[in-house]
Amino acid sequence: MTSPDSRITIRPMAGSLGADIDLAGPVDDGIFAAIRQALDHYLVIHLHGLDLAPEELVALTRRFGTISRAPYIKHMDTHPDIVAVKKAADERKVSTFGNAWHSDFSFLDQPPMASLLYARQVPSHGGDTLFANMVEAYDALSDGLKAVLDGLDAMHAGRPYGTGGVPGTIAVSRSIGIERNRPEADREVAHPVVRVHPGTGRKALFVNPIYTIRFAGMTVEESRPLLDFLYAHAVRPEFTCRLRWTAGDLAIWDNRCTLHYAVNDYDGQDRLLYRTMVQGERPVPAIPRRH
Ligand code: OGA
Ligand code: MN
Repeated sequence: MTSPDSRITIRPMAGSLGADIDLAGPVDDGIFAAIRQALDHYLVIHLHGLDLAPEELVALTRRFGTISRAPYIKHMDTHPDIVAVKKAADERKVSTFGNAWHSDFSFLDQPPMASLLYARQVPSHGGDTLFANMVEAYDALSDGLKAVLDGLDAMHAGRPYGTGGVPGTIAVSRSIGIERNRPEADREVAHPVVRVHPGTGRKALFVNPIYTIRFAGMTVEESRPLLDFLYAHAVRPEFTCRLRWTAGDLAIWDNRCTLHYAVNDYDGQDRLLYRTMVQGERPVPAIPRRH
Protein backbone atom coordinates (compact mmCIF):
# COMPACT_ATOMS: atom_id res chain seq x y z
CA MET A 1 0.00 0.00 0.00
CA THR A 2 1.39 3.45 -0.90
CA SER A 3 1.10 6.05 1.79
CA PRO A 4 -2.14 8.02 1.31
CA ASP A 5 -0.72 11.12 3.00
CA SER A 6 2.81 12.48 2.69
CA ARG A 7 2.99 13.15 6.44
CA ILE A 8 2.82 9.44 7.21
CA THR A 9 5.41 6.79 6.42
CA ILE A 10 4.29 3.17 6.27
CA ARG A 11 6.71 0.21 6.35
CA PRO A 12 5.35 -3.37 6.35
CA MET A 13 6.50 -5.37 9.40
CA ALA A 14 6.36 -8.81 7.79
CA GLY A 15 5.01 -10.52 4.70
CA SER A 16 1.60 -11.30 6.14
CA LEU A 17 0.47 -8.45 8.40
CA GLY A 18 1.57 -5.48 10.41
CA ALA A 19 2.92 -2.05 9.49
CA ASP A 20 5.26 0.37 11.22
CA ILE A 21 4.03 3.91 10.90
CA ASP A 22 5.89 7.13 11.57
CA LEU A 23 3.85 10.29 11.85
CA ALA A 24 5.09 13.79 11.23
CA GLY A 25 2.54 15.96 12.95
CA PRO A 26 -0.65 15.57 14.94
CA VAL A 27 -3.43 13.13 14.12
CA ASP A 28 -5.75 15.43 12.17
CA ASP A 29 -8.61 14.11 10.03
CA GLY A 30 -6.34 13.39 7.05
CA ILE A 31 -3.84 11.43 9.12
CA PHE A 32 -6.62 9.61 10.93
CA ALA A 33 -8.17 8.51 7.62
CA ALA A 34 -4.74 7.23 6.53
CA ILE A 35 -4.35 5.28 9.78
CA ARG A 36 -7.79 3.67 9.37
CA GLN A 37 -6.95 2.70 5.80
CA ALA A 38 -3.64 1.21 6.91
CA LEU A 39 -5.41 -0.75 9.65
CA ASP A 40 -7.79 -2.33 7.12
CA HIS A 41 -4.86 -3.19 4.90
CA TYR A 42 -2.25 -4.37 7.45
CA LEU A 43 -4.57 -5.45 10.33
CA VAL A 44 -2.02 -4.34 12.94
CA ILE A 45 -0.31 -0.99 13.02
CA HIS A 46 2.58 0.13 15.15
CA LEU A 47 2.77 3.90 15.57
CA HIS A 48 6.13 5.05 16.81
CA GLY A 49 7.12 7.71 19.29
CA LEU A 50 3.83 9.27 20.39
CA ASP A 51 3.40 11.28 23.54
CA LEU A 52 -0.16 10.54 24.63
CA ALA A 53 -1.74 11.52 27.91
CA PRO A 54 -4.35 8.97 29.04
CA GLU A 55 -7.20 11.25 27.97
CA GLU A 56 -5.62 11.60 24.52
CA LEU A 57 -5.54 7.82 24.17
CA VAL A 58 -9.23 7.73 25.10
CA ALA A 59 -10.02 10.52 22.61
CA LEU A 60 -8.12 8.72 19.83
CA THR A 61 -9.95 5.47 20.63
CA ARG A 62 -13.30 7.32 20.33
CA ARG A 63 -12.47 8.37 16.79
CA PHE A 64 -12.70 4.70 15.79
CA GLY A 65 -16.14 4.27 17.34
CA THR A 66 -17.78 3.69 20.69
CA ILE A 67 -15.45 2.74 23.51
CA SER A 68 -15.99 -0.69 24.96
CA ARG A 69 -14.84 -1.60 28.47
CA ALA A 70 -13.35 -5.00 29.17
CA PRO A 71 -15.39 -7.23 31.47
CA TYR A 72 -13.80 -8.82 34.57
CA ILE A 73 -10.72 -6.57 34.43
CA LYS A 74 -9.98 -3.65 36.71
CA HIS A 75 -9.92 -0.28 34.94
CA MET A 76 -7.94 2.73 36.12
CA ASP A 77 -9.61 4.69 38.92
CA THR A 78 -8.63 7.94 37.22
CA HIS A 79 -9.51 6.82 33.67
CA PRO A 80 -12.33 4.24 33.66
CA ASP A 81 -11.95 3.51 29.92
CA ILE A 82 -8.33 2.37 30.35
CA VAL A 83 -6.89 -0.89 31.66
CA ALA A 84 -3.29 -0.72 32.87
CA VAL A 85 -1.60 -3.89 31.57
CA LYS A 86 1.24 -4.32 33.99
CA LYS A 87 3.81 -6.76 35.28
CA ALA A 88 6.24 -5.56 37.93
CA ALA A 89 9.93 -6.43 38.09
CA ASP A 90 9.48 -8.37 41.33
CA GLU A 91 6.82 -10.67 39.85
CA ARG A 92 8.69 -13.71 38.65
CA LYS A 93 7.37 -16.94 37.18
CA VAL A 94 3.80 -15.72 36.94
CA SER A 95 1.53 -15.86 33.94
CA THR A 96 0.66 -12.51 32.38
CA PHE A 97 -2.36 -10.99 30.67
CA GLY A 98 -2.67 -12.19 27.08
CA ASN A 99 0.04 -14.86 27.36
CA ALA A 100 -1.63 -17.29 24.92
CA TRP A 101 -3.02 -16.76 21.41
CA HIS A 102 -6.37 -14.99 21.55
CA SER A 103 -8.75 -12.44 20.15
CA ASP A 104 -9.83 -9.97 22.84
CA PHE A 105 -13.00 -10.95 24.69
CA SER A 106 -14.33 -13.10 21.85
CA PHE A 107 -16.96 -14.45 24.27
CA LEU A 108 -18.88 -11.17 24.21
CA ASP A 109 -22.01 -10.96 22.05
CA GLN A 110 -20.29 -8.08 20.25
CA PRO A 111 -16.54 -8.53 20.71
CA PRO A 112 -14.39 -5.40 20.31
CA MET A 113 -13.53 -4.57 16.71
CA ALA A 114 -10.18 -3.10 17.69
CA SER A 115 -7.89 -2.70 20.67
CA LEU A 116 -5.32 0.02 21.28
CA LEU A 117 -2.26 -0.59 23.44
CA TYR A 118 0.04 2.28 24.37
CA ALA A 119 3.47 1.55 25.87
CA ARG A 120 4.41 3.56 28.96
CA GLN A 121 7.28 1.49 30.27
CA VAL A 122 8.78 -1.52 28.53
CA PRO A 123 11.69 -3.89 29.16
CA SER A 124 15.03 -3.17 27.49
CA HIS A 125 14.43 -6.39 25.56
CA GLY A 126 11.65 -8.98 25.66
CA GLY A 127 7.95 -8.36 26.22
CA ASP A 128 7.16 -8.28 22.50
CA THR A 129 3.64 -8.90 21.22
CA LEU A 130 2.99 -11.41 18.41
CA PHE A 131 0.10 -11.15 15.94
CA ALA A 132 -1.36 -13.63 13.46
CA ASN A 133 -3.42 -12.99 10.33
CA MET A 134 -6.68 -14.97 10.43
CA VAL A 135 -7.61 -13.96 6.88
CA GLU A 136 -4.52 -15.60 5.43
CA ALA A 137 -4.91 -18.57 7.79
CA TYR A 138 -8.41 -19.12 6.40
CA ASP A 139 -7.31 -18.58 2.79
CA ALA A 140 -4.61 -21.24 3.14
CA LEU A 141 -7.08 -24.01 4.08
CA SER A 142 -8.35 -26.53 1.55
CA ASP A 143 -11.64 -25.82 -0.20
CA GLY A 144 -13.11 -28.89 1.52
CA LEU A 145 -12.33 -27.68 5.04
CA LYS A 146 -13.34 -24.11 4.20
CA ALA A 147 -16.77 -25.37 3.12
CA VAL A 148 -17.19 -27.26 6.41
CA LEU A 149 -16.04 -24.36 8.57
CA ASP A 150 -18.15 -21.75 6.71
CA GLY A 151 -21.29 -23.41 8.06
CA LEU A 152 -20.13 -23.97 11.65
CA ASP A 153 -20.55 -21.95 14.82
CA ALA A 154 -18.30 -22.24 17.86
CA MET A 155 -19.12 -21.61 21.50
CA HIS A 156 -16.98 -19.07 23.35
CA ALA A 157 -16.86 -18.35 27.10
CA GLY A 158 -14.85 -16.17 29.47
CA ARG A 159 -13.06 -19.23 30.77
CA PRO A 160 -10.23 -17.51 32.72
CA TYR A 161 -12.81 -15.47 34.64
CA GLY A 162 -15.26 -18.33 35.23
CA THR A 163 -15.72 -21.02 37.84
CA GLY A 164 -13.42 -23.52 36.11
CA GLY A 165 -10.39 -21.42 37.03
CA VAL A 166 -7.22 -20.93 35.10
CA PRO A 167 -5.69 -24.06 33.61
CA GLY A 168 -2.31 -25.04 35.02
CA THR A 169 -0.81 -24.28 38.38
CA ILE A 170 1.22 -21.18 37.60
CA ALA A 171 0.42 -18.09 39.68
CA VAL A 172 -1.05 -15.13 37.85
CA SER A 173 0.45 -11.64 37.89
CA ARG A 174 -1.10 -9.60 40.71
CA SER A 175 -0.48 -6.30 38.95
CA ILE A 176 -3.46 -6.62 36.66
CA GLY A 177 -6.73 -6.87 38.58
CA ILE A 178 -8.60 -9.85 37.12
CA GLU A 179 -11.85 -11.12 38.58
CA ARG A 180 -12.12 -14.89 38.97
CA ASN A 181 -14.84 -17.42 39.70
CA ARG A 182 -17.60 -15.39 38.10
CA PRO A 183 -20.45 -17.77 37.15
CA GLU A 184 -21.68 -15.41 34.40
CA ALA A 185 -18.30 -15.84 32.64
CA ASP A 186 -19.19 -19.53 32.10
CA ARG A 187 -22.04 -18.54 29.76
CA GLU A 188 -21.39 -19.83 26.24
CA VAL A 189 -21.93 -17.54 23.27
CA ALA A 190 -22.13 -18.85 19.68
CA HIS A 191 -20.11 -17.11 16.97
CA PRO A 192 -19.43 -18.16 13.38
CA VAL A 193 -16.13 -20.04 12.96
CA VAL A 194 -15.58 -18.00 9.81
CA ARG A 195 -16.62 -14.36 9.99
CA VAL A 196 -16.83 -11.75 7.26
CA HIS A 197 -15.05 -8.46 7.84
CA PRO A 198 -17.63 -5.73 7.20
CA GLY A 199 -15.00 -3.26 5.95
CA THR A 200 -13.06 -5.44 3.54
CA GLY A 201 -15.55 -8.25 2.87
CA ARG A 202 -12.83 -10.80 3.53
CA LYS A 203 -13.39 -14.03 5.49
CA ALA A 204 -11.36 -14.74 8.62
CA LEU A 205 -11.12 -17.66 11.03
CA PHE A 206 -12.63 -16.68 14.37
CA VAL A 207 -11.59 -19.24 16.99
CA ASN A 208 -8.89 -18.99 19.66
CA PRO A 209 -7.48 -21.27 22.35
CA ILE A 210 -8.34 -19.06 25.34
CA TYR A 211 -12.03 -18.45 24.82
CA THR A 212 -13.32 -21.00 22.28
CA ILE A 213 -14.79 -24.04 24.06
CA ARG A 214 -16.20 -26.27 21.30
CA PHE A 215 -18.13 -26.28 18.04
CA ALA A 216 -21.87 -25.64 18.41
CA GLY A 217 -23.78 -28.93 18.49
CA MET A 218 -20.64 -30.94 19.35
CA THR A 219 -18.92 -31.99 22.55
CA VAL A 220 -15.63 -30.59 23.78
CA GLU A 221 -13.93 -33.92 23.01
CA GLU A 222 -15.36 -34.09 19.49
CA SER A 223 -14.30 -30.52 18.81
CA ARG A 224 -10.78 -30.67 20.19
CA PRO A 225 -8.92 -32.35 17.29
CA LEU A 226 -10.15 -29.91 14.65
CA LEU A 227 -9.81 -26.88 16.95
CA ASP A 228 -6.27 -27.92 17.83
CA PHE A 229 -5.45 -28.24 14.14
CA LEU A 230 -6.86 -24.76 13.47
CA TYR A 231 -4.92 -23.20 16.37
CA ALA A 232 -1.64 -24.68 15.16
CA HIS A 233 -2.35 -23.81 11.52
CA ALA A 234 -3.44 -20.24 12.26
CA VAL A 235 -0.21 -19.26 13.98
CA ARG A 236 2.27 -20.73 11.52
CA PRO A 237 5.17 -18.26 11.38
CA GLU A 238 4.21 -17.24 7.83
CA PHE A 239 0.97 -15.74 9.15
CA THR A 240 2.56 -13.79 12.01
CA CYS A 241 4.47 -10.64 12.82
CA ARG A 242 6.31 -9.56 15.95
CA LEU A 243 5.95 -6.13 17.48
CA ARG A 244 8.91 -4.91 19.49
CA TRP A 245 7.99 -2.09 21.87
CA THR A 246 9.62 1.21 22.74
CA ALA A 247 7.97 3.48 25.32
CA GLY A 248 5.67 5.89 23.47
CA ASP A 249 4.59 3.35 20.85
CA LEU A 250 0.94 2.69 20.13
CA ALA A 251 -0.33 -0.57 18.62
CA ILE A 252 -3.78 -0.81 17.09
CA TRP A 253 -5.08 -4.19 15.92
CA ASP A 254 -8.21 -5.35 14.16
CA ASN A 255 -9.54 -7.85 16.67
CA ARG A 256 -11.95 -9.39 14.13
CA CYS A 257 -9.32 -10.93 11.90
CA THR A 258 -6.16 -11.31 14.01
CA LEU A 259 -4.96 -13.21 17.08
CA HIS A 260 -2.25 -11.92 19.39
CA TYR A 261 0.07 -13.24 22.09
CA ALA A 262 1.94 -11.38 24.85
CA VAL A 263 5.42 -12.90 25.14
CA ASN A 264 6.28 -13.35 28.83
CA ASP A 265 10.09 -13.33 28.68
CA TYR A 266 11.07 -10.32 30.78
CA ASP A 267 11.12 -11.43 34.41
CA GLY A 268 12.91 -8.87 36.54
CA GLN A 269 11.84 -5.88 34.39
CA ASP A 270 8.79 -3.63 34.66
CA ARG A 271 6.28 -3.45 31.82
CA LEU A 272 3.29 -1.11 31.72
CA LEU A 273 0.93 -0.40 28.85
CA TYR A 274 -2.44 1.34 28.67
CA ARG A 275 -5.18 -0.38 26.70
CA THR A 276 -8.57 0.67 25.34
CA MET A 277 -11.06 -1.05 23.05
CA VAL A 278 -13.53 -0.08 20.34
CA GLN A 279 -16.98 -1.68 20.30
CA GLY A 280 -17.51 -4.18 17.46
CA GLU A 281 -20.48 -5.68 15.67
CA ARG A 282 -22.01 -9.12 16.14
CA PRO A 283 -19.76 -11.35 13.98
CA VAL A 284 -21.16 -11.82 10.47
CA PRO A 285 -21.14 -15.47 9.27
CA ALA A 286 -19.79 -16.50 5.87
CA ILE A 287 -23.08 -18.27 5.14
CA PRO A 288 -26.33 -16.84 6.58
CA ARG A 289 -27.67 -18.99 9.44
CA ARG A 290 -31.24 -20.25 9.47
CA HIS A 291 -31.79 -19.79 13.25
C1 OGA B 1 -4.15 -7.10 25.51
C2 OGA B 1 -3.02 -8.03 25.31
C3 OGA B 1 -0.67 -8.01 24.86
C4 OGA B 1 0.58 -7.53 25.50
O1 OGA B 1 -3.91 -6.01 26.07
O2 OGA B 1 -5.26 -7.43 25.10
O3 OGA B 1 -3.25 -9.15 24.93
O4 OGA B 1 1.63 -7.74 24.87
N1 OGA B 1 -1.81 -7.52 25.53
O5 OGA B 1 0.52 -6.97 26.60
MN1 MN C 1 -5.35 -9.31 24.28
